[in-house]
Amino acid sequence: RVKLLRYNTVDDAVNLIEESRNIIVLTGAGISTSLGIPDFRSKNTGLYAMLKELDLDIEDPQDVFSIEKFTENPSIFFSVAKDILLETDRFTPTHAFIHLLQQKGKLLTNYTQNIDNIEAAAGILPEKLIQCHGSFATATCRKCGHKVPGDAIYAEIKSGSIPRCKQCTRSLQSGRPALKRKRSKNGQDKNRRRNNDDDFSDDDDDDEQYDIPEAGIMKPDITFFGEQLPDAFSNRLTGHDKNKVDLVIVIGTSLKVAPVSEVVPYLPAHVPQVYISMDPVSHVNFDIDLLGQCDVVVAELCRRLGWKLDHPMVKDH
Ligand code: OAD
Repeated sequence: RVKLLRYNTVDDAVNLIEESRNIIVLTGAGISTSLGIPDFRSKNTGLYAMLKELDLDIEDPQDVFSIEKFTENPSIFFSVAKDILLETDRFTPTHAFIHLLQQKGKLLTNYTQNIDNIEAAAGILPEKLIQCHGSFATATCRKCGHKVPGDAIYAEIKSGSIPRCKQCTRSLQSGRPALKRKRSKNGQDKNRRRNNDDDFSDDDDDDEQYDIPEAGIMKPDITFFGEQLPDAFSNRLTGHDKNKVDLVIVIGTSLKVAPVSEVVPYLPAHVPQVYISMDPVSHVNFDIDLLGQCDVVVAELCRRLGWKLDHPMVKDH
């Protein structure tokens, strides 16, 4: 689409935030790195670079989050999950900034791709938050669909073992096989999680079979590559936000994963878009790029807005 050079500067971003009432904040792993949590794709420090060094039975480190690989061999995911499952009440100045937008009545929705649940620790309200790639907060049996709170399987995950379904186990003990989980045939559904350049043409959902009578494997409700995003993602975006949003701020994501990468181009062209990250992206055209450590950038925005960003990592100004 044709873009006019309508906004450029840091002060333009400040004015936009000041004037806006319904801001979408779209976030990625970069907003948590200042807590020592790796992002995914940074060249030397990202999780995928680290996984390359391990002797995992996968060609591409992203396959740790592939539903196909999980079905073949869940131990690959669980050998990594014990290190990425996080329980913390700490959050970054960037999370605090999003919370401040909420307090000022300006936050329409925070769409996060992060599975670390840190938004909750920062006080982002559940009704303002869409966890596009799910989280560890719940887990579901791959065989019978039984859902449990995530912490019911944290101990098993942390010990590196593969959690099994208690409901299936009970049914097996009582001699009745657990209900087989129904799977939808998604085909090339746009809402399925995929890399931007993935081709699903020879993909087939039908070959997934489970061996009864073994108890099913509990999979944390993280959206793997090849799985549908939670319905709340598209419902909120199309049914609630699209016609309300007056500013989009994208923070700390490489925008390499669809359909989240399609959110900005999907929104009406008149909505201004700001990108805050260490590295620029070339495949999405933003009005304003504020490149640098996001904690530093948001602290400067707050300073110019005259807002107090109350966080121990932010020096008084
Ligand atoms: P990526 O690792 O792809 O991108 C993180 C971006 O944040 C990069 O552009 C970094 O340069 C930038 N960054 C890192 N630290 C930063 C900092 N302190 N300040 C500003 N920018 C910083 O992570 P995502 O885009 O979130 O799926 O990845 C998307 C999805 O791919 C994830 O949700 C994950 C992965 O497969 C899962 O569900 C596990």
